[in-house]
Amino acid sequence: MIALAADHGGYYLKEAIKKHLELKGIEFKDFGTYDTSSVDYPVYAEKAARAVAGGECRFGIICCGTGIGVSMTANKIKGIRAAVVTNEFCAEMTRRHNDANILCMGGRVIDENTAVKLADIFLNTPFDGGRHSKRVDMIKELEQNI
Ligand code: RB5
Repeated sequence: MIALAADHGGYYLKEAIKKHLELKGIEFKDFGTYDTSSVDYPVYAEKAARAVAGGECRFGIICCGTGIGVSMTANKIKGIRAAVVTNEFCAEMTRRHNDANILCMGGRVIDENTAVKLADIFLNTPFDGGRHSKRVDMIKELEQNI
């Protein structure tokens, strides 16, 4: 199950990704927003992040104008490693090295085709583990001291 969320700035990216997941038969839960009216991105990013942190969803894909606001919000939730991504290399590497569980993208930064491509890469790339596990564990350790 994939958690999807966006504000008005990321709405069209979310809709494009939703359509793509539907075509591929991948289950998702859409936490809104559901149109382009102006809304506050933390509300939607938090919902998706909690669904991932709580185990209801394996990954999240969340969008706003830049991808930055939703990533800042999601990263406040324990267990979330959310990455703002704008290109294929970063989409792959944040899975391989950071074991990111939320992909963040900006509707004012990339187009819909690019977002779909990056979502595919993100969802299909495994974590490399090995020396990267220790580093991800160091991030998790920080969460214990907040
Ligand atoms: C909304 O105008 C915009 O601030 C938001 O979508 C996002 O880019 C914030 O980081």
